[in-house]
Amino acid sequence: MNKNKKESLSEKQRGCLEYLKDNKLRRINILEGSVRSGKTYVSLLLWGFWVVTKEPSCTFMMAGKTLMTLKRNVLELLGDIFSGSFTYSLGKKEASLFGRRIYLEGVSDARSEAKIRGLTLDGAYCDELSLFEEDFFKMLLSRLSKHEAKLFATTNPDHPNHWLKRDYLDNAELDLLDVKFTLDDNIYLDKKYVESLKKEYTGMYYDRFILGLWVAAEGRIYGEFDKSRMVLEEAEIHRRLENNPLLFTIVGVDYGGNKSASVFSLAGFDRGFKNVYLLSEHYDRENKSAESLIHDFTERITEWRGEFPPLKAVYCDSAEQLLVKSFRYAVPIEVKNALKRPVNQRIAMLCRLISAGRFFVSADCVKFIEAMETAVWENSRTGITAKPGKDVRLDDGSINIDSLDAFEYAIERYERELFKF
Ligand SMILES: Nc1ncnc2c1ncn2[C@@H]1O[C@H](COP(=O)(O)OP(=O)(O)OP(=O)(O)O)[C@@H](O)[C@H]1O
Ligand SMILES: [Mg+2]
Repeated sequence: MNKNKKESLSEKQRGCLEYLKDNKLRRINILEGSVRSGKTYVSLLLWGFWVVTKEPSCTFMMAGKTLMTLKRNVLELLGDIFSGSFTYSLGKKEASLFGRRIYLEGVSDARSEAKIRGLTLDGAYCDELSLFEEDFFKMLLSRLSKHEAKLFATTNPDHPNHWLKRDYLDNAELDLLDVKFTLDDNIYLDKKYVESLKKEYTGMYYDRFILGLWVAAEGRIYGEFDKSRMVLEEAEIHRRLENNPLLFTIVGVDYGGNKSASVFSLAGFDRGFKNVYLLSEHYDRENKSAESLIHDFTERITEWRGEFPPLKAVYCDSAEQLLVKSFRYAVPIEVKNALKRPVNQRIAMLCRLISAGRFFVSADCVKFIEAMETAVWENSRTGITAKPGKDVRLDDGSINIDSLDAFEYAIERYERELFKF
């Protein structure tokens, strides 16, 4: 391992390495808390130093939400830290650390739980554990059947009734180590970056991602959305875009069913991915026919392309493949399926932009503005909740979710560019 890295650890991280001494590690070892607080970095040191003490014939597993996030969050860093002693192949879903075999798994793959069913593991590492399904985690624990087997995991906080908090972290009967981190524990971050993170997370997100607390999402979702600053007349938008022109625009599409509307949202990013604009919207509650939708699409795309160039692509709800196909034939523009990331991930992204003062909406987008002002979290305090322990955006027909979805489909792909992780 790189000597310099070993020598420079934060106080909290040095404290963590102390658990390696005198058998202080437990069966389950969880490092939890704020974003960027240094959990993953030290968890990989713990993991590596522990794995190397095991017999070469032992087998291990490292799991993340997907293999790609596992690679990005963990495997690349593990390679930096233990260069020369760590190799991996995503294709084979296997890695080797100090000659020990490690299976790699992405847990969002529906078959992953079935795959680990027959295994016996000596140790496991989980990246972003709160994003796992409880069933997978239970199965993983049952595979760690040997006396000395251990699990290591990192996580950010979530809902206070989340299965991980309720059944594991708060369960005094378990053989579990819970180490809490806050952002200020990480002394290696640039001060300006820390300041900007503290501004970008507000309300529930501040409590969770800066302070590391397990708090519930309640009330208005976009409480920080301030119409007086963020809604701009068209002339003002054009004036701003003269100073900092658009890099490109994109369109997000959500189709209406019986009760909902069809929405096209024209979004744009200015130079340097500094700000995000919602420039125009098309909102159709009637949904007369597929033909009328394709006709409107053609008209809108042609109009928007002229007014806010360059229009790069259209991202559509993937539920209606026939419409996606028809759009492709209707206008010569790249039409793709939206990524449709988990709703809460999309919400967190928009809230972060709003809190940072980087999001602006044209005053013409009345339906979207109304949706921003009315969207609320489902009230879990009354006990009436479809998904206990999860934050749920209320979707009972009373709120215009379609406008929110369409805009989110447009911008979700650019999270990395916008926040340059
Ligand atoms: N001891 C250290 N020396 C140098 N850099 C460090 C150290 N610890 C952490 N860092 C750096 O700080 C950043 C955040 O650390 P890390 O990824 O471990 O945080 P995290 O708590 O896992 O964050 P998240 O919750 O966002 O996943 C990374 O860029 C990491 O390389
Ligand atoms: Mg991490």
